[in-house]
Amino acid sequence: MTILKNPQSTLQKPKILVARAIFPEALAQLETSFEVCSNQADEVLTPAELQKALSGVIGALVAGTERIDAGALAGANDLKIVANISVGYNNFDIPAMTAAGVMATNTPDVLTDSTADFGFALLMATARRITESEHWIRAGKWDQWSIVNNPLGMDLHHSTLGIIGMGRIGQGIAKRALGFGMKVVYHNRSRLSAADEKACGATYLTKEDLLRNADHVILVLPYTAESHHTIGAREIALMKPTATLVNIARGGIVDDLALAQALRAGKIFAAGLDVFEGEPKVNPELLKLNNVVLAPHIASATEKTRRGMVDLAIENLQAAVDGRKPPSLINVEVFGK
Ligand code: DGY
Repeated sequence: MTILKNPQSTLQKPKILVARAIFPEALAQLETSFEVCSNQADEVLTPAELQKALSGVIGALVAGTERIDAGALAGANDLKIVANISVGYNNFDIPAMTAAGVMATNTPDVLTDSTADFGFALLMATARRITESEHWIRAGKWDQWSIVNNPLGMDLHHSTLGIIGMGRIGQGIAKRALGFGMKVVYHNRSRLSAADEKACGATYLTKEDLLRNADHVILVLPYTAESHHTIGAREIALMKPTATLVNIARGGIVDDLALAQALRAGKIFAAGLDVFEGEPKVNPELLKLNNVVLAPHIASATEKTRRGMVDLAIENLQAAVDGRKPPSLINVEVFGK
């Protein structure tokens, strides 16, 4: 990849890295205060390129495609902050960043509603077989329309939605589900307050009870060592054969091979996936199936929201460089004082 230097750079400006393409206006804004090494060509940096690009910069804007760990930070002696353009930060090794004296930030809140909208959209597309229906038309099958022979789906209205991971986005999905007359059950590391449960109309269940009872299950939890393969063959076996499973959280939370095998065997009705183990690769077994709706990690992808995420990442970076506390600081115990 080619890292472009700002041609109008001056020695006085601190140097930063923008590791993925961002909106031109945002780049221009950064260039008023910083010497910017940008990657508007948007080729994902290799670990070696990332390590080199971080050396000599005071801050960096990155996305989930950049893994920030001890290796990436070796030689990044001037680095004060890495601002993720993403709410999830499983691409950050927080202990390694903290040990290297580097602040870590993410972009919460600005994407909550767009991501919750998308979760609901993917759930509807999955349950009502929307992409399969489109393929049906494109394959010239509309003349085979019949009362019983269309792609017949599962209802959302008045069904039970199980949400695993009840942070801001999970709660946003729960509130949307209420409009469909759905019963909402949830599982989370910690229970919501009674007031929050009431606002979401949600009932807490163990993971196992949720899987047994839900007609639709949606995953919105962060990816950690503990949440790896939260859903595998054992968990799918607990689900109803008519159930759907939607993952808008992170690849690795679902065992994609076990899911593909279960979908093929009809152990559950269908799945909707926005995230994948090892993305951008998709397990080839999933690609062979009709009863899975696939999306390329686009839950936050509206123009307004992506602009909001970039703006918040810039605000975080600027604050750290100015010696202020970034608004969405993650390693707050060390740098938040
Ligand atoms: C996030 O912000 O974590 C999303 O997954 C990125 O689109």
